[in-house]
Order: sequence, then structure tokens, then C-alpha cells
Amino acid sequence: MNNIIQLHDKKFVKYISAQEIDEAITAVANQLNKDYTEEPPLILVTLNGAIVFAADLLKQLQFSSVLSCIKLSSYQGTQSTENMKTLIGLNEDVKGKRVLIIEDIVDTGKTYQTLVDLLNEKGAKEIRIATLTMKPDAYKLDLPVHYIGINIPDKFVVGRGLDYDGLGRNFNDIYQLYTD
Ligand code: IMP
Repeated sequence: MNNIIQLHDKKFVKYISAQEIDEAITAVANQLNKDYTEEPPLILVTLNGAIVFAADLLKQLQFSSVLSCIKLSSYQGTQSTENMKTLIGLNEDVKGKRVLIIEDIVDTGKTYQTLVDLLNEKGAKEIRIATLTMKPDAYKLDLPVHYIGINIPDKFVVGRGLDYDGLGRNFNDIYQLYTD
């Protein structure tokens, strides 16, 4: 029961348990607490997907950081598109600062690259990224992905902030696209 959910026209099957996700988030938080003892970063959360991960993660961080949000969009349905739009821009001064990007997923890396270009242009001193999930087989960049919760195969997933056309973000477990 509840192993399969329906969102719009597609079915998704339970793939990663809430407990496994929570443990992965705690592991990322522990690492961040070790790495940012000296100079806390500005935390940049990518809307909308990373809100849920950011909320879980931030509660476990022991350093004080300014939080800012940015919204880019490249996905339509289950397909990445070439057009990257800035829907809500960066309103924080990042010049000379360390920045930690919080992402729900790193797929091809296009969003990450766009953020890195923007932050470099604005004079950020150091840019790192913490992502709840990553698809190594889809990733096309040479840029390091510093903090990864869980590596997943190149299949579409929902839950924990990840959506299919706006739905599915609320699920505590992560579900994978079900093809029968
Ligand atoms: P990238 O720019 O290709 O790395 O993709 C990053 C963005 O694509 C994420 O922030 C998500 O919004 C979206 N995305 C990529 N893969 C998935 C997925 O499996 N489920 C839901 N959204 C995804």
C-alpha cells in the first residue's frame, strides 16, 4: 500500500525510504558543520525544489548563515529543456563571500553551471554545492559537486521537494517513475 502513487498521468513507485533520506541529510549536515567552522557561507537555496531539503538540513547546522533564495527554471514535465529562465533573481551581495548552493537534485548540471556563472560574475569568493540527490550518469560538467546526499540512477524521481509538473514535492519518501 502507498508503494505506488499517481501524479497527473504518471505512476511512481517508492524508491528511497524517508529514513534513508534523513540519514543522508544528517551525514551532509555533519560534514558541513566540520567544513564551515571558520567562515560560514551565504546559503543560496534554489526554489522551489530545494526548500524541503534546505529546511531539514538547516535545522542541523551549527553555524549562523544568511539565507537567500533564487529561482531558475529549465524543466517541463519530465524533460530538461535548453532554455534556462531566471524567475526570481539573486538579491544578496555575494562579493567576496563564500556561497553554499542548496539543491534538491543535480541532473545534467545545467542549473549548477548557470548559478556558478552568475555567482562568479557577482564576485563570490568560493562556491560550493550541497545537493540532496545527484544523477552521476546524467552529469555533464567537470565542476565538483561537493556534498551529495544520495546518488541515484538517471531516472525521473519525485518526493522531498522534487516534483512532476508541480506535484509530488510533499512526499517524505522518494519515488521513481514507474514503467510497466
Ligand atoms: P539540471 O540543470 O539538469 O542539473 O537539473 C536540475 C533541475 O532539474 C532540478 O533542480 C530539478 O528541478 C529538475 N530535475 C532534474 N531531474 C529531476 C527529477 O528526476 N525529478 C524532478 N526534477 C528533476
